[in-house]
Amino acid sequence: MMKTRAAVFYEPNKPLLIEELDIDEPKTGELRVKMKAVGLCRSDHNVMVGARPVGMTPMVLGHEGAGVVDAVGPGVTRVKPGDHVVLMFIPTCGHCHHCVSGQTYACVLSANIAKGPQLDGTFRLHNRQGQAVGQFCLVGAFSEYAIVNQDSVCVIGQDHPFNSACLVGCGVTGGFNAAVSRAKVRPGSSTLIIGTGGVGMNVVQGAKAAGASTIIAVDLVEQKLAWAKMFGATHTINARKTGVVETVMNITNGKGVDFAFEVISHPDTIAQAYEATARLGTVVVIGLTPANFASLPISPLSLVLSQKTVMGTLYGAGNALVEIPKLLRMYKRGQLKLDELVTTTYTLDQINQGYEDMVAGKNIRGVIVFD
Ligand SMILES: NC(=O)c1ccc[n+]([C@@H]2O[C@H](COP(=O)([O-])OP(=O)(O)OC[C@H]3O[C@@H](n4cnc5c(N)ncnc54)[C@H](O)[C@@H]3O)[C@@H](O)[C@H]2O)c1
Ligand SMILES: [Zn+2]
Ligand SMILES: [Zn+2]
Repeated sequence: MMKTRAAVFYEPNKPLLIEELDIDEPKTGELRVKMKAVGLCRSDHNVMVGARPVGMTPMVLGHEGAGVVDAVGPGVTRVKPGDHVVLMFIPTCGHCHHCVSGQTYACVLSANIAKGPQLDGTFRLHNRQGQAVGQFCLVGAFSEYAIVNQDSVCVIGQDHPFNSACLVGCGVTGGFNAAVSRAKVRPGSSTLIIGTGGVGMNVVQGAKAAGASTIIAVDLVEQKLAWAKMFGATHTINARKTGVVETVMNITNGKGVDFAFEVISHPDTIAQAYEATARLGTVVVIGLTPANFASLPISPLSLVLSQKTVMGTLYGAGNALVEIPKLLRMYKRGQLKLDELVTTTYTLDQINQGYEDMVAGKNIRGVIVFD
């Protein structure tokens, strides 16, 4: 039986446990990925602190990964051993209503991503006690090896560094496309990005690429705001020091922004985004707010009278199989910053430190690098 070292989630508010797991051979339609790099996205942390319920424990978290295919099961046609792949946190089945409509970010299989087992209901990982171990987002990337369905991978060129390529599996696509594909930011428009971490920084990049003339970045950490300027922000607001809505109104001559993005995960910052948006403007909620918050803090009367649009988005409404290669092409031509997003790298054994650093606001993205 092959073994893999992985970071396993057993219970909320406890460190991830690094342990050796038994890993099965790939079944029909599946492949084994030797992981090379995986980003520390806040969505895994939401699970670690119990804010996002998952179907079971133990579970290997991690979904922003890249690696090399080293074995394939029967019936695999889309990939072959040696291919470099980026994992997708929403699979693309290719034939459900949404996939055939060109909206793979809403593939019906997305209903299964927080349950634990593979799509056939069985498990590929087992711990020393013989317990079945789930895989978050069907991938479980915090592991030296992952068995995943071919619907969960996007083949990329062989010349991309894994450390930065992994980020297009979630945060880059989820942020960049939220501006470009979901909100459809227009040239000359004004934008507000509340929370410029690993995802929000890519909303900044997306707004810039879409031609926004005003890009206001909001964070609590001065260093993130300095970084945001480097990624394209025209204005920055430290929410610890200044009122966000009031400052946005000053910058936009009392109008508010055309597009506001909440990239944290709190009702209060969603309310800020809403209030700082102009009449007829658009509010995009990207942050995954803890499950115990049941409603949006938005006045229904104001929604109608201001004629604003409030929308949510996953993967930025980007079709990952198209967007991942596109974003990597932009990176190669110097049109998208990826290396600059990776502020610290860690080993798998340092993963809990990596998440502590994220919470402390030290990184844009921390990335686990496997040898
Ligand atoms: N919808 C999607 O497709 C998608 C994809 C990935 C992540 N997410 C979610 O997006 C959110 C952000 O993820 P991330 O990985 O970028 O997290 P992150 O921790 O890297 O970034 C969050 C940023 O918000 C800042 N912040 C916190 N509170 C603030 C406040 N009150 N005012 C201003 N700034 C504040 C932090 O300093 C940090 O820079 C999470 O909820 C995550 O689960 C959604
Ligand atoms: Zn993510
Ligand atoms: Zn589908």
